[in-house]
Amino acid sequence: MTERGGATHSKMEVKTSLLDNMIGVGDMVLLEPLNENSFIENLRKRFDHNEIYTYIGSVVISMNPYRSLPIFTPEKVEEYRNRNFYELSPHIYALADEAYRSLRDQDKDQCILITGESGAGKTEASKLVMSYVAAVCGKGQEVNKVKEQLLQSNPVLEAFGNAKTVRNDNSSRFGKYMDIEFDFKGDPLGGVISNYLLEKSRVCKQPRGERNFHIFYQLLSGASNDTLTKLKLDRDFSKYNYLSLDSATVNGLDDAASFRTVWNAMQIVGFMEDEVQSVLELVAAVLKLGNIEFKPESRVNGFDESRVKDKNDLKEMCELLGIEQSVLERAFSYRTVEAKMEKVSTTLNVAQAYYARDALAKNLYSRLFSWLVTRINESIKAQAKTRHKVMGVLDIYGFEIFEDNSFEQFIINYCNEKLQQIFIELTLREEQEEYIREGIEWTNIEYFNNAIICDLIENNQNGILAMLDEECLRPGTVTDDTFLDKLNTICAEHQHFESRLSKNSKFLTDHSLPHSCFRIQHYAGKVLYRVEGFVDKNNDLLYRDLSQAMYKATHSLMKQLFPEGNPAKVNLKRPPTAGFQFKASVGGLMRNLQTKNPNYIRCIKPNDKKAAHIFTESLVCHQVRYLGLMENVRVRRAGYAFRQSYESSLERYKMLCKQTWPHWRGAARDGVEVLLTDCSVPAEEFAYGRSKIFIRNPRTLFTLEERRRACLEDLATLIQKIYRGWRCRTQFLLLKKSQVVVAAWYRRYAQQKKYQKIKSATLVMQSFIRGWKARKILRQLKYEKRCKEAVTTIAAYWHGTQVRREYRKFFRANAGKKIYNFTIQRIMQKYFLGLKTTMPSMSPIDNTWPARPYMFLEGAHSELRRIFHFWRCKKYQGQFTEEKKAVYEEKLEASEIFKDKKALYPSSVSQPFKGDYLEIQKNPKYQKLNSAVEDKVLLADVVNKINRANGKGAPRLFLLTKNNFVLADQKTGQVKASVPLPDLTSVSVSTQSDGFFALKLKEGSASAAKGDFLLSSEHLIELITKLHRTGATAADRDQINIDISDEFLVQFNQDKVCVKFIQGGPKNGNSAACKRKNNRLLEVSVPSSP
Ligand SMILES: Nc1ncnc2c1ncn2[C@@H]1O[C@H](COP(=O)(O)OP(=O)(O)O)[C@@H](O)[C@H]1O
Ligand SMILES: [Mg+2]
Repeated sequence: MTERGGATHSKMEVKTSLLDNMIGVGDMVLLEPLNENSFIENLRKRFDHNEIYTYIGSVVISMNPYRSLPIFTPEKVEEYRNRNFYELSPHIYALADEAYRSLRDQDKDQCILITGESGAGKTEASKLVMSYVAAVCGKGQEVNKVKEQLLQSNPVLEAFGNAKTVRNDNSSRFGKYMDIEFDFKGDPLGGVISNYLLEKSRVCKQPRGERNFHIFYQLLSGASNDTLTKLKLDRDFSKYNYLSLDSATVNGLDDAASFRTVWNAMQIVGFMEDEVQSVLELVAAVLKLGNIEFKPESRVNGFDESRVKDKNDLKEMCELLGIEQSVLERAFSYRTVEAKMEKVSTTLNVAQAYYARDALAKNLYSRLFSWLVTRINESIKAQAKTRHKVMGVLDIYGFEIFEDNSFEQFIINYCNEKLQQIFIELTLREEQEEYIREGIEWTNIEYFNNAIICDLIENNQNGILAMLDEECLRPGTVTDDTFLDKLNTICAEHQHFESRLSKNSKFLTDHSLPHSCFRIQHYAGKVLYRVEGFVDKNNDLLYRDLSQAMYKATHSLMKQLFPEGNPAKVNLKRPPTAGFQFKASVGGLMRNLQTKNPNYIRCIKPNDKKAAHIFTESLVCHQVRYLGLMENVRVRRAGYAFRQSYESSLERYKMLCKQTWPHWRGAARDGVEVLLTDCSVPAEEFAYGRSKIFIRNPRTLFTLEERRRACLEDLATLIQKIYRGWRCRTQFLLLKKSQVVVAAWYRRYAQQKKYQKIKSATLVMQSFIRGWKARKILRQLKYEKRCKEAVTTIAAYWHGTQVRREYRKFFRANAGKKIYNFTIQRIMQKYFLGLKTTMPSMSPIDNTWPARPYMFLEGAHSELRRIFHFWRCKKYQGQFTEEKKAVYEEKLEASEIFKDKKALYPSSVSQPFKGDYLEIQKNPKYQKLNSAVEDKVLLADVVNKINRANGKGAPRLFLLTKNNFVLADQKTGQVKASVPLPDLTSVSVSTQSDGFFALKLKEGSASAAKGDFLLSSEHLIELITKLHRTGATAADRDQINIDISDEFLVQFNQDKVCVKFIQGGPKNGNSAACKRKNNRLLEVSVPSSP
């Protein structure tokens, strides 16, 4: 339990303990309260949870699970590798590791003692230990080969030495002790296997429900046809007497496959091809031997002599072994007894022959088995001669109680008894030694010591084995009964021996004790042995004739197997008895074991059905009892229930005390002392050893554990708290950091944005201002420039003008113009001067005008003509008086009214308008008339008034004044009608050359009462013109309308009469004639003009 490991432990490792996650208690020592029930209950609880391993201190209790559990994986191997024994939950690997490391590191030879009844799992346990050691020890080509050979020796030995029994389908029928040898580094070098007493009786006879050794079945079902014919064998099991048929095939066992495995294993271990062949030949020979049968043949002397019945099997067997058939045949019929130089030959009866046959078969097989072991040892033997470290693994047949228990069971149980003995001795001694080593006071503890039973069996004087030998060697008739008698006399008083007789002597009757039986109260229970066969089996007699016959065989192995058959070495001394041999080898084994550090694995069988999950309490209880496990626990707890090195216990409990937590700086022992005092553990509850603390009561330990658990929870919370705090803090810091970064970036970004905005705004403003300034300056500059330019221009122009003015006269360009002007002037001059001479007359009607001399004078010429004309007219007009002027005006007006409208007009032009044709002023005739007329008479003439009725004209005087016209009688000058001019609306005349005219009056006026006037005059043109002129000036009204047409209406009284002018031939001279046609029409015919 000391800390070891160093370098391999350098990686971070969580310290675990056996005490962690316990189901029940992992170490029985800690069981509280301790009694058988709680013990079994703990086992059951753990078994139910697949925890098949439980400790008692350093002893491992192993429950057979009868099914494969996932706890033997390479990962598990790694888990247990280099870990302290109590660090992890109980496991066989922990024990193997502990043993291996003690061997390697502390140079202590180890032995692993595996005990338990048949089928409890011993062989499996031994294999697990070996495989673990193989897995953890060194590697390398050579090492691996050795490992492989060591491991592969198992299948070979199991094939030949194991058989199906009622207890176990793969029961080891021999005891096996294997020494594995290691070098100083812990690498395996090789091994030595010792075998103990093969149960050879099985070769010939098997109990019900059991089988012969596996190899027979494997050979028959797995070998090729070729091999079988070579071996002269038949596949059919039923052909062979030695093979039990009722359980020839076993569930879960594949014999054929196993045969191949064995074959392979033999190759790996190093068997030569021919060696394998030889071995199989011997196996075949045994089968053949079983088939040899005998029949009696009467002899003259009255005895029956045995003869071989069917010689075929004998023949084949002899062929297989290379024996002369006759020799063997004879050996089955005769027996030679040599005594004192004399050879006496006696015949064998049939029973003896069978006995001899079976003895031969058994010997043949068991010697073959021993040879196999020797051969394997040869292969796996360590090569180097250096000192080895040794780890012994003992897998011996377990304690057996059958219905019929015979010599074999006796031997087997004796062996177990011895193992129990050594267990007791070593455990107790170990315990005691530890106390002494640690300087703790040792108080003795009561336990059952089976030394007394061992003594009963092996005592040299009166032990059962000694007596059996004595019987066997005694001359005279020796039977099993005489042996029992002897026991009865010698052992009767022994408290562990019972027989019917010994009981009787005590006046006790026990009907469970039949005759010819004795009972031994073994440590593991009472076993009833049937004495039948004890003597024979102990003698293990093989007739010399047979061994000699075997020796003579040509088969390669036979001489080795039967060395006593050598005629040259006839030894008359009896061979040692089986019991004696066994006792000797067990003795040797025990001595061997005692020199080594023991490690115990105590196998327990949970049920009798080879079934998983079944826990038969009574069965387990029985085993617990006889294995002395309770005592084991008690012894272990006698002083102190629990011990632990100071370092590891300080490590485990340091959190219970302030001073030791989290680190104890001083020595571990002081730390533990401080710790325990602080925890106020009563002083009697613990003791301080040299390197370990011893705790007396498991309860104390549990209290510590409980407090530790509570403390761990607090610590876990604390760690959790701190971790969470740390995590949150880191998280927070991270967040904070990130936030700062984000904020910084954001601020930067925002500022950048802002800056850019301001910058661009500034730029805009700047540009505007600059633009404005620039424009202002530009404007200024432009203005200045324009001013300058203007000045320049003005100056230039001015200068130009000046210069031009100054220099014009000098310019030739002006010459043309001057000449031209001059010429024009001359031409004009000439023209005007010429015109003076050629001027036309001053008459306004003179149309002549000199021709123009030049085209270009056209405008001026015609203008001059016009001016001249006007000037002439002016001159002309200047000559007229006012009267003349009025005459011409009237003439002009007449022209305007009539020109081209009335045919009469042209003739009037040359007539001057006299006006007063009557000379009214002067003529006194018209005095009265004249006076009647207030105003000046503008016209006075004689007109014809046309009669309205007939159209005949009557002369009338027509006077026109400024305001009215007057019609007066020509003769009288009486005014007939005076019509104010405003009452005259219009005047109608014809187009022709007549002098008719109609004066139309305003309707409704006073003048119009008599209707319109139709008149004719000589001076029509003048009359009408004057009327028109006066009407126009007199009344403040439009001029009198002058209607010129050849047809017009005239209002006569109430009637409107149409006056129509026609062109007619001249009737009355030149004057026109008027004629009333009808009421409505007045026709005027006018002579056509010449
Ligand atoms: N650790 C184990 N895991 C699984 N099965 C086991 C184990 N130990 C034993 N067994 C089963 O029990 C049977 C008997 O075991 P074995 O070791 O041959 O018993 P023993 O040697 O004690 O007579 C094995 O054949 C196997 O089926
Ligand atoms: Mg076994």
